[in-house]
Amino acid sequence: MQKPPHTTASSKYSQRHAELSVEIELHNSRYYRHDAPLIADYDYDQLMLELMALEAAHPELLTPESPSQRVGGAVLEQFDQVVHEMPMLSLSNGFSSDDVSEFDRRLHEQVDQPIEHVFEYVAEPKLDGLAVSVLYENGKLVQAATRGDGKTGENITQNVKTIKSLPLSLGKRAPARLEVRGEVFMPLAGFAALNQRQLDADKKAYVNPRNAAAGSLRQLDSAMTAQRPLDVFIYAVGVFDDTEGAVGVKPETHHAMLMYLAELGLPICPIVEVVSGVDGCVDYYQRTGASRDQLPYEIDGIVYKLNRLDWQRAAGFIAKAPRWALAHKFPAQERTTIVADIDTQVGRTGAITPVARLEPVFVGGVTVSNVTLHNKSEIERLDIRVGDTVIVRRAGDVIPQIVSVVSEARPANAHPYEFPLVCPICASDVLFEGAGIIARCSGGFRCAAQRKQAIKHFASRKAMDIDGLGDKIVDALVDEKLIHDAADLYTLNAETVINLEGFAEKSTDKLLASIGASKKAELSRLIFGLGVPQVGETTAEQLAEHFGYLEKIYTAKAEELERLPDIGPIVAQSVVDYFGSQANQEMLKRLLDAGVEYDKVVTISREEGGELPLAGQTFVLTGALSSMSRSDAKKELQKLGAKVTGSVSKNTSCVVVGADAGSKARKAVELGVKVIDEDEFTAML
Ligand code: IVH
Repeated sequence: MQKPPHTTASSKYSQRHAELSVEIELHNSRYYRHDAPLIADYDYDQLMLELMALEAAHPELLTPESPSQRVGGAVLEQFDQVVHEMPMLSLSNGFSSDDVSEFDRRLHEQVDQPIEHVFEYVAEPKLDGLAVSVLYENGKLVQAATRGDGKTGENITQNVKTIKSLPLSLGKRAPARLEVRGEVFMPLAGFAALNQRQLDADKKAYVNPRNAAAGSLRQLDSAMTAQRPLDVFIYAVGVFDDTEGAVGVKPETHHAMLMYLAELGLPICPIVEVVSGVDGCVDYYQRTGASRDQLPYEIDGIVYKLNRLDWQRAAGFIAKAPRWALAHKFPAQERTTIVADIDTQVGRTGAITPVARLEPVFVGGVTVSNVTLHNKSEIERLDIRVGDTVIVRRAGDVIPQIVSVVSEARPANAHPYEFPLVCPICASDVLFEGAGIIARCSGGFRCAAQRKQAIKHFASRKAMDIDGLGDKIVDALVDEKLIHDAADLYTLNAETVINLEGFAEKSTDKLLASIGASKKAELSRLIFGLGVPQVGETTAEQLAEHFGYLEKIYTAKAEELERLPDIGPIVAQSVVDYFGSQANQEMLKRLLDAGVEYDKVVTISREEGGELPLAGQTFVLTGALSSMSRSDAKKELQKLGAKVTGSVSKNTSCVVVGADAGSKARKAVELGVKVIDEDEFTAML
């Protein structure tokens, strides 16, 4: 078309409007879909402000596809109903590789193919969100709906338009009418941030990303939805009407269809794969399951879809699900169960931790029957009562936790939990610290629970490493009053041990031999094993290195201790208090009298040895090293003057990355901290 000789004001504005719309949508896609913004937020806001100002001055420019419509529209009284042109189906579920084989076998029958013919499937994550249908007419987003009962859903067009990764207009090759289906979900990072905002505003946190996504999508005020971090992946096509012939050759496989939708600008899950047969499906399931925790969103299984669309049509549907697809579920990460009891555990330092005893439930791949409730305020926050039905969650290797109480299921007689005011073991008063959150038994060594924990700590692998002295044996020894503290371990003899339940001659000899072997110890392990409050492994090592002799620590002053790199006033005071105590000194004397000896640590002090090569540098070790244990690596570094800590910060000098390193390695890269692998590390040493 020829340009008119004089550009009118209105066409100038409409041209600018079109330019701005294209540019803003480009930035939406870069930011929300590719995580690769091209401009700063401020510059983006300026473009949006210009667009909105233009639309305010020239309302005729405002179309339903304008990016300004993503901020929300009028507040609705209720959602209108939408009848789906094609029903929105669900999926058949499978739970094992056998179920996948059976699905594949039946499908071969249904499409009349010999079983030797290996089918191609598309494997996709089963996203844990809500299904939506989105209709584009002539490439414009005109309607979006929930699944509802599969036949009729709710019109949530305004809300879906606020999802910025979803285009409001499609590319040129869009068919006249295209209805796509996908899953709206809330990425984990956005979920965490939303919950933080909810809590900051004294509102209830959402139980999980799925509920948060559902709540966000069903807001009658779409301006609210616009503030929620929702995202969507498209995984299927409902209506595909190409009467105008815009598409060219229609895709013949599900995967080609997804690629075509991606070409139109629709967001497709990036880890979708074409796989071969049952083996390919199961392999994808295992791989994805293993890296499930690293995905930025929640998935609850894998969906396998027969790739060839003509064979999909041949297979057809049963009841409400297609025969050509299977959802292979991961073990549930959330299950409900009942709180049978609430108990408390007394730790080594007297901290009293409440524990929920549950009716055992299989969740996240393990059976869970005990869950820590952390502290008094956590019980109050969740208002957990004995008899309650609760949602238990175990994701990946994270310890199981109770996410919420199903309040509707609460028995009438359930009363609020009363935190004990005296220690359940020794009846000493419970002291509440830290704004009443942390409960502590005031019994000290009078409390059998604290003594048991102290002995277990002394014997543990990182301390004196007494092989075979398990928790149950320590409990029995203390309960039978055969030992009172760690020093008494060295007075045990065969006659006493053999009388314990489960002990015979051989096991008795073995235990006594390991106790005997532990008499030769490293000083740092001995100090760590004493369980001095505030003294962890690193501090214990520093004390050993600096003082060289246990007796020297007895008389150390807080000021001297504070000169050590990791020791502040609180730790220093704790060390002074511990070693200054008559009772502790007496116990230490009994230990040494019983024959416990430690290696006298030879240290090159900084003054004598001059500057050590790694002095002033902080190292973090992460992942497994093949040539040495992590604690040996730590020692090597410390010998060279480096400080070794557990967490990466911008002050870290170097992170040594072994096999299967996780978040620390990532954090190092994010912070621009130097990262070296095992080879470089050994070369450096
Ligand atoms: S395909 C006809 N693919 O799972 C096939 N569904 O249990 C219809 N879902 O309502 C669904 N991820 O909300 C499909 N990659 C995926 C999916 C997926 C999640 C949900 C969807 C559906 C439910 C069925």
